[in-house]
Amino acid sequence: MTASDPLSKFRDSFGKSMETSTDKRPADPHGGARICVQDLCKSFEHGGRTLQVLSNLSFELEKGVMAAIMGASGAGKSTLLHVLGTLDLPTSGSILFNDESVTSMGPTRLAEFRNRSIGFVFQFHHLLPEFTALENVMMPCFINRMDSALAEKKARAILDRVGLTKRLTHRPGELSGGEQQRVALARAMVLEPPLLLADEPTGNLDTHTGKEIHDLFVELNRERGTTMLIVTHNPKLAEMMPSCLKMEDGGLVDGILS
Ligand SMILES: Nc1ncnc2c1ncn2[C@@H]1O[C@H](COP(=O)(O)OP(=O)(O)OP(=O)(O)O)[C@@H](O)[C@H]1O
Ligand SMILES: [Mg+2]
Repeated sequence: MTASDPLSKFRDSFGKSMETSTDKRPADPHGGARICVQDLCKSFEHGGRTLQVLSNLSFELEKGVMAAIMGASGAGKSTLLHVLGTLDLPTSGSILFNDESVTSMGPTRLAEFRNRSIGFVFQFHHLLPEFTALENVMMPCFINRMDSALAEKKARAILDRVGLTKRLTHRPGELSGGEQQRVALARAMVLEPPLLLADEPTGNLDTHTGKEIHDLFVELNRERGTTMLIVTHNPKLAEMMPSCLKMEDGGLVDGILS
């Protein structure tokens, strides 16, 4: 890669913006997070009214558990993932991540924590279109200020693991839907986060491809012990997960079923 390529520009500008950061603790590879949610509430102010979306949710996820989240459209599944993933703040309640309170972290710690400790996969891949598969997967490494050689080694290894060794130089527009989701999964897993949150990751794929991607989640969960929480509307995929969290109108119907 040359100094003028887009990745170099991204890396250089990000490196400068992160100079004030002090947290250099290593990530916790090969292990999942224990998540403890207590009395979690989330409401939105809309049109002069308060819309209560999450109502007093309490549950625990043991390290390495893989759980489905199911529920009708509008039940609050994405809202729960956003709040757990620290992309949005709860209105009240607490979230402990391996006994550390994520709701009381300052902005710098929170940004680093999110990048290093939580992987996200969405229904639509959200890959950066101007970068190759390899470069997209290297992004979280650069945000974490890893040197290029190590970032490339890690990105190649996880892309190999998801079966994309022959697509490293393809841009997202040059990949199939299933391949794009494999890249998104590789990007989410490249730093071996203790928690992976996925919002309908197979919702945009045909049944066969969706099952293949789902199987990859299961294999990575077994291999790495990553705690995984996966929203799905597909009962067959939910049945394949050891636990299921069922939501209805912002509350839990059955809690965690093991
Ligand atoms: N920023 C917001 N402001 C106001 N209301 C919101 C906001 N975000 C979500 N909502 C409302 O919260 C409710 C839950 O939304 P959410 O996206 O969590 O549902 P969901 O269970 O993920 O549904 P789906 O299966 O359709 O993706 C919806 O009724 C939605 O309109
Ligand atoms: Mg949703």
